[in-house]
Formats: sequence, structure tokens, C-alpha cells
Amino acid sequence: MNLDRLLDMFWNDYAAITPDAHEIHRRLAERGETIVNDHIALRTFDLDPIRVDSLAKPFAELGYRPSGEYAFEEKRLRARSFVHADPTRPRVFISELITGAFSDELQSACKSLAAQVPATRGGTIDLFTTVPSWKKIDHTSYERLLTESEYAAWVAAFGIRVNHFTISFNHLKGFESLRQFCAWLASCGFRLLDPDNPVAGSPEVLLEQSSILASRIPWEFAGGERVEIPSCYYEFARRYTDPSTGLLYEGFIAKSADKLFESTNVKQRGA
Ligand code: NI
Repeated sequence: MNLDRLLDMFWNDYAAITPDAHEIHRRLAERGETIVNDHIALRTFDLDPIRVDSLAKPFAELGYRPSGEYAFEEKRLRARSFVHADPTRPRVFISELITGAFSDELQSACKSLAAQVPATRGGTIDLFTTVPSWKKIDHTSYERLLTESEYAAWVAAFGIRVNHFTISFNHLKGFESLRQFCAWLASCGFRLLDPDNPVAGSPEVLLEQSSILASRIPWEFAGGERVEIPSCYYEFARRYTDPSTGLLYEGFIAKSADKLFESTNVKQRGA
């Protein structure tokens, strides 16, 4: 599978469970904007065969190279980012939950999911094309995971897939600032992660980011039980030129990403 097909597959899978994504595209198209994605983000557990390095391998084979490593101590996550030689390709951000930092119960729940992924799938594109990654979890297990880690519950429910796409603000023509863009989103009825302070980061750190709250969709759990839960969200990023290199900043800011992980939290304001 080439990169175009993989990215199309990711988009279709993400858009199918993120109704807001279609609506944002429609409204931007109405304004004559063309959408370029800054990055896509995937979530996983630090367990074989689905750990970050395993998910990163197919991207390396498709022309991506590492661009950064990040630690999120409070949420007990770590992440790596990757860039493609072709600057029109989205960057890739992959995070993993450090499962050993949680209870035995959470660890065994995550292990039982990872164990359903054949070892032969590790490091291959089949990690993404085999959907779903594992059998549906039951809703009680989901709720128990939530009490320890919103992130763990999300991965358990949705499997290995793109958690968010991110529109590149740099490629939009009709907005003066990310803050103004956020005000436009709010006026369209989208719910921002932090309406009072919608922009994380700053020009000084060379990256500004914002996001809306994850869409809420009816999701099927084991036994056919359907419950409305947060699925995926849309993010927005504005990058600045690094004065020390004269090139666009390619990395991520851990402090901003730490906040943005909360876009999929179940107990969000107004959610
Ligand atoms: Ni992101």
C-alpha cells in the first residue's frame, strides 16, 4: 500500500466516527479554503506488538524520519513524531501509554487486548488495515479503565487508529490568527477544548495549537450494548519559522500536547 492509500484509509476511518470533521471541511470549503493536514496522531499501548516503535516502522518504510521524542509524566505517556521529505505530507505523532505505571487490573486489561494482535502484524501496515484491532470490550471494563486513564479507555474501545487529524493553519488564507480562527469555529457552533483560552503554545515556542472536543457517537460494546462516548476530534496548528535554522519548526510542544490529550475526556465541560 502506498502512502496516499494509507492516508486515505486513515481519513475515511476517522471521518466515519467524527461527524464534526465533515462539517468543518464543508464550512471551510464554503469560504474557499483548501485543507492541508499538519499532522495525524495515533494512540497505542507500550506492549508488543503494538508499541510506538512497531507502529512507526511502516511509516519509516513510506519515507518518514524521526523528528522528536516527548514525555508526559502526569498522564504516563510518551510519544515520538515523524516527518516526511515531502512537506505536503502530514507529520505523524504516535503516543503510547506506559502501562506499567498503572494498576495490575489496567495492565492485564491492556495486555489481553494487545495479545489479540498476532506478533506477525507487528511493524507492518496490517496494524492499521486490520480493523477492528481486537474484539469489542464490554462497557463495564471501559468504565473501569476510565477511572484510571481516559487514554487507556479510548484505545481499548477504538483500537489502533488515528485519534485526530490536524488542519494546518499556515495553509488557510482567510484568517489572521489562530485565535480568530477559534472564534469562527465557536460561532459555527463547535465546542472548543478550552473556550476561554483556546490557543496552546505561542509564536515564541514556534507552535500554536487548538482543538475542538471529540465528537460523541453511539459506540458498540461487547454484547451489542450501545453507549454514547467521545470518539475523535479535530486539531488546528500554526507553525512558525525557527530563527536559528530559517526553517519551519517541525516538532511538538509537550506542554501543549499534554492539554490537547484531554479533548477525548468523557467529563468535558459542556460534554
Ligand atoms: Ni495533535
